Amino acid sequence: MKALMITRLSGPEALAVQDAPDPVAKPGQTIVRVSAGGLNFADVMTTKGGYPGTPAAPLIAGREFAGAEEGSGRRVMGYTQWAAFAEKTAAYSHMLWPVPERWSDEQAAAFPVNYFTAYLLYWQSGMTQPPAAGRTHRVLIHAVAGGVGTAAVQIGKLLGVELYGTSSSDEKLARVKELGLQHAINYKQHDYEETVKNLTHGEGVDSVFEMLGGEHTAKSTRCLRDFGRVIQYGTATGNQPRLDLRALYAKSASVQGLWLSYLSQKREIMEPAWQQLSVWIEQGKVTPQIGHVLPMDRAVEAYKLLEAGKNYGKVVLKIST
Ligand SMILES: NC(=O)c1ccc[n+]([C@@H]2O[C@H](COP(=O)([O-])OP(=O)(O)OC[C@H]3O[C@@H](n4cnc5c(N)ncnc54)[C@H](OP(=O)(O)O)[C@@H]3O)[C@@H](O)[C@H]2O)c1
Repeated sequence: MKALMITRLSGPEALAVQDAPDPVAKPGQTIVRVSAGGLNFADVMTTKGGYPGTPAAPLIAGREFAGAEEGSGRRVMGYTQWAAFAEKTAAYSHMLWPVPERWSDEQAAAFPVNYFTAYLLYWQSGMTQPPAAGRTHRVLIHAVAGGVGTAAVQIGKLLGVELYGTSSSDEKLARVKELGLQHAINYKQHDYEETVKNLTHGEGVDSVFEMLGGEHTAKSTRCLRDFGRVIQYGTATGNQPRLDLRALYAKSASVQGLWLSYLSQKREIMEPAWQQLSVWIEQGKVTPQIGHVLPMDRAVEAYKLLEAGKNYGKVVLKIST
């Protein structure tokens, strides 16, 4: 079969489409014929050996996909840790979900990581339950025009959350506003800490979905309301998160982590999340936002788009027809 190989852990340039042996299903797994793959920031990090647990190269790239299950022919979308970007992949049955009839394979490949992560960000923020009477939850979403960001806007709108979001581009922000973002902040033009403070009359937000790292962890803590929390779920700047202990003390706030690779192993967390997400899908209330579709032989370009932060929504690779 054809597969997208990470030939060396030296960045996207070392990606190449090569022949690879067909996968063999382990107990609990089925083989899926993959037609599309969703690209994640984690895939970019993996090419540099920067993602926790990356095996030695060469390895097959990719962690989410859509296609047809061998045998049953059922259309599925799935999540795995490695080896999704190939004509065939072996996937655990509990990490496969049925593709809604009206979705294309590209849309389905853009679903699992973004929507489970976004849903669990709200769950960890205590926002999947209604707020106390007379109170509205507020969230600040960094990279709001990205894959997880656009999913978080759609879900936040359904949960009745007041949404604040940052991006480097007015053009991207205009598109996210159409999805329901109320407060769009271009961080190249405005300081987000100041802007959040002004827009919330000095109160702040209940939660920040923080995936930048470095000084942004501290800065995001200063955007919080009393008892608020920064949910740290990435470090796209490549810098270790810095804490502002004074702001944490002053507001009884917290910084907590979220990692889908770990949470996805817990059925008691994933099944209720899917129950809610599948209801919204059925009602047509969540639709993956795809910015770019490229064939697998242009993977280097696709990875670089994400690496440079030039994407809107999801970057999808066409694997086979
Ligand atoms: N913990 C987990 O389980 C988990 C799961 C999924 C994703 N993540 C993390 O969530 C983040 C978003 O992932 P994604 O796949 O949805 O990507 P994405 O948000 O679609 O793309 C990254 C976006 O981040 C923004 N950005 C800001 N600073 C950047 C920088 N220094 N380099 C590159 N981009 C930068 C860019 O948007 P603007 O130009 O609009 O700012 C860019 O479009 C990543 O950090 C990823 O590792 C974590």
